[in-house]
Amino acid sequence: MVLNYLIRLFMFQTLITIKDVYQQAEKLSKSEKLIKVGGWVKSSRESKEKKFIILNDGSTMNALQIIISRKNFLQLGLLEKINFGSGLLVSGRLVLTPGRQQSCELEVEKIELVNSTDNNYPLQKKNIPLGIVRNFPHLRAKTNYFLAVFRLRHSISKAIHEFFHQEGFYYAPTPIITSGDAEGAGETFTIHAKKEDFFNKEAKLTVSGQLQAESLAQGLGKVYTFAPCFRAEQSNTTRHLAEFWMVEPEMAFADLDVITNLAEKMVKWVVNFVLTNNYPELEHLEKHTQKELINRLRRLTKESWEKVDYSKCIEILIKNKENFILRDIKWGIDLQSEHEKYLCQYFNNKPIFIINYPQELKAFYMKNNPDGRTAACFDLIFPQVGELIGGSVREDNYQTLIGKTQRKKLNLENLSWYLNLRKYGYVPTAGFGLGLERLIMYISGAENIRDTISFPRYFKHSDF
Ligand code: 4AD
Ligand code: MG
Repeated sequence: MVLNYLIRLFMFQTLITIKDVYQQAEKLSKSEKLIKVGGWVKSSRESKEKKFIILNDGSTMNALQIIISRKNFLQLGLLEKINFGSGLLVSGRLVLTPGRQQSCELEVEKIELVNSTDNNYPLQKKNIPLGIVRNFPHLRAKTNYFLAVFRLRHSISKAIHEFFHQEGFYYAPTPIITSGDAEGAGETFTIHAKKEDFFNKEAKLTVSGQLQAESLAQGLGKVYTFAPCFRAEQSNTTRHLAEFWMVEPEMAFADLDVITNLAEKMVKWVVNFVLTNNYPELEHLEKHTQKELINRLRRLTKESWEKVDYSKCIEILIKNKENFILRDIKWGIDLQSEHEKYLCQYFNNKPIFIINYPQELKAFYMKNNPDGRTAACFDLIFPQVGELIGGSVREDNYQTLIGKTQRKKLNLENLSWYLNLRKYGYVPTAGFGLGLERLIMYISGAENIRDTISFPRYFKHSDF
């Protein structure tokens, strides 16, 4: 009796995650079935003899049912204080329930109410509409929807690292603080230090780590940077953030074909990873937001994607211009999202690589094609999220690059280090940038990019 009590006391001291509960349930011997878990109340219901609480700790999508039998439970007074969202530590006996939806449940012996929620808790109920949850970024992790999305985000980031690792790329982070504007689009945020001349020149938050990644590739061969980027675009769209994460591989001796193939392989690899490792998250999202999500992902990994010249796209669009709001379509225009969407539809609703855009539309660093008017570049367009990736071969001709820099009226002094790379054993490199949040949008089915990052920053919003 005493020994039994001591064993229990000992067992109750180690907290295990609910994920481990499910993984180990079958293997546990009888005496080990006394366990302790901690988590938040996701829902509860009562019968005359019992109270059932669904508890989750974030380690899995698969919440644990805990059962309190009023007959044996000594802390009955406590039950009234436990409400939706309360944080609990629970000890009890694990019971296998083969054949049921959940393979085991916990028969409670002891509950510690760590904290309940007060009357002002904004997410009192289950299934609160996303539109309301969005107003409380600091509480979003408590909802099942964001548990699924944030768990996916974690997995997608991990998959990206694993992909590049097995492809032989070095993870080479690039700076957040910079004096340049890599894209030359004038969308930088400026940093103000208390001491004005801290850096001796204007400092900014990076819009892209590409230029530094290029310099690293001129020695390491294959590198990628994966870091936050900042853009002061005043576009209040469902696809733009002021702070977002970009993955940017850069590869020596690569051309447009190599780099587009790498992009396709990477996205498919990540989607396969998620299908293998995050099925419960996808199932949850499919049930609650996006029908056919899983089939759509499966299909994506099997089909091969189209590579279409910008010029060819313009021909297609001109032939079908009655479909668009912007009908003044001619060679040289920047494609609008209605055009991009149409082109995806045209090619069986698959992602498409649009390649060889006019030089004038694209950044200064992209390599000029021999035709004199296009650049060796691509945008990867997804029907659901628009541009997922942008990339190019880099201009390797020093004089051509200087000319392009001047024509775009960029600051030559700030870029001198980058231009000089061409004089020191430069070999052609190519690379691309993938917007992590757009990939998460696609994979999770989220309709707004603000739902894919824990604390979204966008025009007029920097709270929390
Ligand atoms: O096409 P972008 O501007 O390309 C670059 O920055 C290159 N330097 C990349 C490279 O070649 N290394 O941006 C790349 C991707 C876009 O396709 C998009 O997915 C994402 O970054 N992106 C944004 N995502 C969210 N919010 C924004 N404001 C974004 N701007 C770009
Ligand atoms: Mg782009």
